[in-house]
Amino acid sequence: MPGYRDLYDASIDDPAAFWADAATAVTWTKAPDRILDDSNPPFYRWYPGAELNTCANALDRHVDGGRAEQAALIYDSAVTDTKRTYSYAELLDQTARFAGVLRGLGVGKGDRVVIYMPMIPQAVIAMLACARLGAVHSVVFGGFAPHELAVRIDDVKPTVIVSASCGIEPNRAVEYKPMLDAAIGMVRHPPRYCVVVQRDRHRCGLVDGRDLDWDVVMTTATPADPVPVAATDPLYVLYTSGTTGKPKGIVRDNGGHAVALLWSMKHIYDIAPGDVFWAASDVGWVVGHSYIVYAPLLLGATTVLYEGKPVGTPDPGAFWRVASEHGVKALFTAPTAIRAIRKEDPDAEYLHGPAADYDLSRMKYLFLAGERLDPDTYHWASEQLGIPVVDHWWQTETGWAIAANPMGTQPLPIKAGSPTVPMPGYDVRILHDDGYWCPPGQEGAICIRLPLPPGTLPTLWNADDRYETSYLSEHPGYYLTGDGGRFDEDGYLFVMGRIDDVINVAGHRLSTGAIEEVLATHPAVAECAVIGVPDEIKGQAPRGLVVVKSGAPTDGLADELVKLVRDEIGAVASFKLVDIVPALPKTRSGKILRKTMRGLAAGRDEPVPSTIEDPGVLDALSTILRS
Ligand code: COA
Ligand code: AMP
Repeated sequence: MPGYRDLYDASIDDPAAFWADAATAVTWTKAPDRILDDSNPPFYRWYPGAELNTCANALDRHVDGGRAEQAALIYDSAVTDTKRTYSYAELLDQTARFAGVLRGLGVGKGDRVVIYMPMIPQAVIAMLACARLGAVHSVVFGGFAPHELAVRIDDVKPTVIVSASCGIEPNRAVEYKPMLDAAIGMVRHPPRYCVVVQRDRHRCGLVDGRDLDWDVVMTTATPADPVPVAATDPLYVLYTSGTTGKPKGIVRDNGGHAVALLWSMKHIYDIAPGDVFWAASDVGWVVGHSYIVYAPLLLGATTVLYEGKPVGTPDPGAFWRVASEHGVKALFTAPTAIRAIRKEDPDAEYLHGPAADYDLSRMKYLFLAGERLDPDTYHWASEQLGIPVVDHWWQTETGWAIAANPMGTQPLPIKAGSPTVPMPGYDVRILHDDGYWCPPGQEGAICIRLPLPPGTLPTLWNADDRYETSYLSEHPGYYLTGDGGRFDEDGYLFVMGRIDDVINVAGHRLSTGAIEEVLATHPAVAECAVIGVPDEIKGQAPRGLVVVKSGAPTDGLADELVKLVRDEIGAVASFKLVDIVPALPKTRSGKILRKTMRGLAAGRDEPVPSTIEDPGVLDALSTILRS
């Protein structure tokens, strides 16, 4: 098999030939005869004219190909103490039936379905059922509050919403239905129907004529066959935080997505059909879309759907229990989960005994992504587990790794702090503000030369202009990732963090701009800034710096602001730090010096910009920020 360098060079020298070869892993209803449509730059489309059905690739072809009785999905819920395995035949049956339900409710090719659900098998079934009909799903993470859900509903305009009565967090049941009802009460484009899974822990009331009970509708459902769609048709829209309060609807197509995910499973994750793969994330995030649902199933592997936390459900051995019990070959999670485990179990007694002693002999890899993997966490994990701990870097936009260590191709020596090297199809360049390529060692904006490879976003939902202005206009011919970093002399990439106003809290991507917009609605707030500050477990935490209006009361204000953000954005924002400050440091043109404040809060000696309006304001703030 060719090594990494040969594969990478081939993908850059002749992308069409490279991705034509990779496309043979997919079962097409109309095979591609053209690979890349580059006639309308900066918009590129992969496999124009080809047709397939993603759900048929994920389920039917494995049932037809002899995997009917193999486990497709293992549901392991630590919070309800439930385990259930679905074979490929069972998952296909449930999915085809739910596709029939959706079709009966008027959902057809191109229609949208919002999925607002906890980590239960019905969430996966609902996603696959949409794919089966050629409908477009948009999953909204359960930790978001009604307003965030409403914004997404109004943008994507679903025919149906699929939800559940509750999610279960270790310390409480989160009632989804009142949040769903509140969101529908806010929107301009309400859905015609909602299908609701009633969970035993908490059953909810249903609205007559609008809400349907999942179990009831499934009993009379007629299974639906897969509908062929164009490779370039959208499979899903997943909203992610941008620099403003309005989330970006990342579009994923069908054909490029299937090709890229299949390629990644073999070449990056070293997974073969029949292996057990576990992405300990949530279906509400891109990791959940790509590596809980689609990639393992497209390949004919077994995926684990885990409803629980790395700690507290019931202890820091939870991940090792799940991995050993289900024979997981590769575990994929975020560094924050490992930091949480390490904090509670620094000597890994839940791994090696005496607290517990799990047999992890089948686990070959730990893959980490979602935020920077700090070397300390890397060393701890690799020493305790004794297997390769593989950092890889990607984003909701790309859907699969931009940089990784390709375990199934040619494992490269690991350098702590680096996600290793660019993956095939990604022509990664470090650009200086002036547009030139930075030499090794010099930091700049990490960009990718167009075209991006298959599986990455072709555009934003109903927002081609925003796609161009957000990603493509700063450096024409390049996609701007929003991260800063550098290459070293060996071609290893080091990703240093976002260079915009996006932050990463426990692997969850948040917009500081969105939090600022909420804070600014409080009547006492004159102006505010939110920055990401270092957090021992979550990597980063949002910290609000608030200037109050003259004469406004400040008693209890911080608590009110924390509650406001929780109510408007959701618990997932983890917004707990508020400082009331006399003024915010600005340039003479009125721009708030967020980068300088971020640096001070991280304990760095930040150069004071020459354009600063009043250096005294920054001096006064630096003591607060460093505390
Ligand atoms: N539905 C409703 N609420 C949710 C939720 C969901 N699906 N997921 C999280 N929340 C709530 C949590 O209960 C918490 O509420 P609280 O403030 O009342 O305690 C809040 O949102 C913040 O959640 P989180 O940031 O996850 O913190 P945590 O303290 O509950 O757990 C970790 C911390 C590190 C254990 C947890 O973040 C984790 O497992 N991270 C793994 C990383 C991961 O999955 N990343 C996804 C991308 S790969
Ligand atoms: P998301 O879109 O939620 O997956 O978040 C993407 C962002 O998370 C990236 O732009 C990075 O800032 C960060 N990120 C993801 N993986 C890594 C990694 N391995 N190293 C550093 N940052 C990462």
